[in-house]
Amino acid sequence: MKKLVSIDGKIVADAEAKVSVLDHGLLYGDGLFEGLRVRAGRIFRIERHLARLRLGARVLGLDLPFDDQAQNDIITNAVRAFGQREAYVRLLVTRGEGPLGVDPTTCKTPTVICIVAEIALFSAEQRAEGLALLTSSYRRPNPDVQDVAVKTLNYLGSALAKQEARQRGGDDALLLNQSGRVAEASVANVFALHGRSLFTPPSLDGCLEGINRAAILEIARDSGFDAVEHSLGRRDLLAADEVFLTGSGAGVIGVRSLDGRTIGRGRTGEVTLGFARRHRQLAESEGPVTVA
Ligand SMILES: Cc1ncc(COP(=O)(O)O)c(C=O)c1O
Repeated sequence: MKKLVSIDGKIVADAEAKVSVLDHGLLYGDGLFEGLRVRAGRIFRIERHLARLRLGARVLGLDLPFDDQAQNDIITNAVRAFGQREAYVRLLVTRGEGPLGVDPTTCKTPTVICIVAEIALFSAEQRAEGLALLTSSYRRPNPDVQDVAVKTLNYLGSALAKQEARQRGGDDALLLNQSGRVAEASVANVFALHGRSLFTPPSLDGCLEGINRAAILEIARDSGFDAVEHSLGRRDLLAADEVFLTGSGAGVIGVRSLDGRTIGRGRTGEVTLGFARRHRQLAESEGPVTVA
């Protein structure tokens, strides 16, 4: 995989792209991350990703070592140096190096890692046909256990849900919350279309407030749909005309079945395809050009 890595703002050779074994990001999953998408040389809504990172840092009591402008420059420089007009950016801010022991106050300086790489979470065939989702036996925790609205380095729940779905022959997992309401997919938000109404779960139901989720709500409203956050049950997906997922890695991708039951016509729906086109146009035209 072709990639470019910067650590604490300095682009490093592959052999030096390493972190300490005593980094609390590794030892305890203590830290935050963001995944951003570059399309047609433009970084999609970088300022919103940085705002979400800052919010997460406040929740974790983690002092970000760079202000938003400096952090923006770090990402932009890395994307420019990578030089490809289609790319994915993984930004990590770990608690930093410290002694063994979970205490975050022993870590002096957070580590900032920026990886720019190619990404293909789903194949062209999966994109064309739509995904087979399987309801996971893993559930999103309540916010008092772990607030999934904060994008921390703790992604074991998503990783195990994805593993389970793949081992059972599905493409991705549908995660419910502790009350059995729909939360999200392993690393993507979920939408259900019923006629001209588009629904996506509120973050209180256990999903991340996705940057692409917000973009789709805007696009749908602009196109005359009644697009709202609304708590959903599994049956609201099964009964939907169309279901799709959104995320920086996933893009906008249709769902053809849930737990073996066909959704809509059993392939990516026409409205979903329209939203995906509009979403791509937006990403390709909004914001400054970083890679010409
Ligand atoms: C758990 C989870 N939900 C939803 C999303 C979608 O968020 P975004 O659109 O900001 O990428 C992500 C990130 O890709 C995620 O990790």
